Amino acid sequence: MAQEPLAQVLRHLPIPKDPDLLVGIDTSDDAGVYRLSDDCAVVSTLDFFPPIVDDPFTFGRIAAANALSDVYAMGGKPRLALNIVCFPKELPLSVLHEIMSGSLDKLKEADVLLVGGHTVEDTTVKYGLSVTGFVRPGRMITNAGARPGDALILTKPLGTGIIASALKAERIAYEDAEAAITSMERLNKAAAETMIEALASACTDITGFGLIGHTMEVAKASNVNIVLLSEAVPVFPGALKLAEKKANRPRTISQNMGFLRPDVMTGKIAPAMETLLYDPQTSGGLLISIAGDRLERLLELLRAQGINGAIVGHCVEREGAWRIKVE
Ligand code: CO
Ligand code: CO
Ligand code: CO
Repeated sequence: MAQEPLAQVLRHLPIPKDPDLLVGIDTSDDAGVYRLSDDCAVVSTLDFFPPIVDDPFTFGRIAAANALSDVYAMGGKPRLALNIVCFPKELPLSVLHEIMSGSLDKLKEADVLLVGGHTVEDTTVKYGLSVTGFVRPGRMITNAGARPGDALILTKPLGTGIIASALKAERIAYEDAEAAITSMERLNKAAAETMIEALASACTDITGFGLIGHTMEVAKASNVNIVLLSEAVPVFPGALKLAEKKANRPRTISQNMGFLRPDVMTGKIAPAMETLLYDPQTSGGLLISIAGDRLERLLELLRAQGINGAIVGHCVEREGAWRIKVE
């Protein structure tokens, strides 16, 4: 669902508060965090969606990596997971078996236990997980901690939305989507452990609202303005070319643009590049905000994990009518 109608509904509901609820719904963060004791808080999140690739095993791997990511983005360690499944009775059960095998494969890699779930009959397949993790309250990394002067690091390229929709419409071959698919299957575990070690000030993962949408959440929750350097933003091979054609753009892109653009000041950049900044990502990378004197260490630690951290922007003092400036 788009950001705007959801925000409208939530605005008018009486959402309860609690002193031990460290991260609630109000800051649009990746997961909720509830303090059990001074040493331990629960991190709780849920994500599910229709197949993004044809192969059910691969879809299961991507869905699990995507659902786990919200716990990693909070600096937490995921531990338990519940399946959420919508499945048509016309489809062979072997498809569901493959989806869950793929998911279990990723959960095992993440050292997360599958403890249950719920399945309903539906006209189309949807799959995802609710994930529970843990974090020391003092080490939690929210989207509200970014400070002026921080650099912003992105750990995966953009373009999964556009590439997946082009693949579904058979406008590209599987090989052309392989880099994006491999990236969607990759856990944000190592990137998260690295940002914790490097003492990041804020973090979120890039998913359905695109780079601009999730950067906006950081800007608002942290009360800073953010400058994004479009030329420094990594994109998957072929994504820019695909973004040039309107037919390849998922509908979510224009929804994201409609909602976010009033707060974005955009310089002279190619329309295809601007499109990619709003492209909805599945299992996207972490966007890490980090103080300047810790930046080199973070990049070094990421490199040691085989992760290419791109410096895509920085935070500045809150000013003016804009929230994000794209250069
Ligand atoms: Co998230
Ligand atoms: Co999420
Ligand atoms: Co049930």
